[in-house]
Amino acid sequence: MKSCLVIVVLMVSAVFAGAQDVSVRPGINQAYEAADYRRWQGMFETAGREVFEQHEAIIAALDIRPGMAIADVGAGTGAFSFPLARKVGSSGKVIAQDISPAFLRGIEARARLENLPQLITLLGAEKEARLAPNSVDMVFTCDTYHHFEYPQAMLASLHQALRPGGRLIVIDYERIPGRSSPWVLGHVRAGRETVVAEIEAAGFKQIRSHQFLRENFFIEFMRP
Ligand SMILES: C[S@@+](CC[C@H](N)C(=O)[O-])C[C@H]1O[C@@H](n2cnc3c(N)ncnc32)[C@H](O)[C@@H]1O
Repeated sequence: MKSCLVIVVLMVSAVFAGAQDVSVRPGINQAYEAADYRRWQGMFETAGREVFEQHEAIIAALDIRPGMAIADVGAGTGAFSFPLARKVGSSGKVIAQDISPAFLRGIEARARLENLPQLITLLGAEKEARLAPNSVDMVFTCDTYHHFEYPQAMLASLHQALRPGGRLIVIDYERIPGRSSPWVLGHVRAGRETVVAEIEAAGFKQIRSHQFLRENFFIEFMRP
């Protein structure tokens, strides 16, 4: 009886360990590996992209105060890193974090031109944000969650980076069969309910959901 129990525990552990080792969306980040910063800037920071058109309203909804430390995880070209850096001011810090060195180089050059020393960059890995433990008040993600190939590992990493009481912001596409575009249905692996369940299973608590976006959900979680 005791040996049966041990075998079951070992099998469950192996399944969880296996889940961490297998990408949930192989190849989804390939296009960003040697990205042309200016070309992607034209695609991310453009009219017609809901989250960019609404970026001021998104940031205004977040009760961001001067002096806060924020990690913009999956920063891309920095569509949110720059306005976030202006919002936290010179006493604060924004860490533009991404797995694409090309994006980070573009952000660094632009931060120098715009005289924003509070905006720094950090190269992450696919399973590890590489943020210091208990170092940030907010982890901001826009259009990034569905790009995590190893969401469980990334969520664990983001959980330990946040200070207790710190917030994880997740903005991502609504994926509703029969309503979302064929592109969203093909590109985005999971809808809002699955995403919320995954994030709650990683130890976060949902605290607020903003309703003004049409194509995206916008949810705030907290590290208890
Ligand atoms: C669609 S872009 C969104 C960029 C930006 N947040 C925006 O909304 O304009 C997704 C970004 O997530 C990044 N990414 C993918 N997996 C990541 C990971 N595990 N850690 C950090 N960044 C990641 C990609 O390199 C890419 O820059």
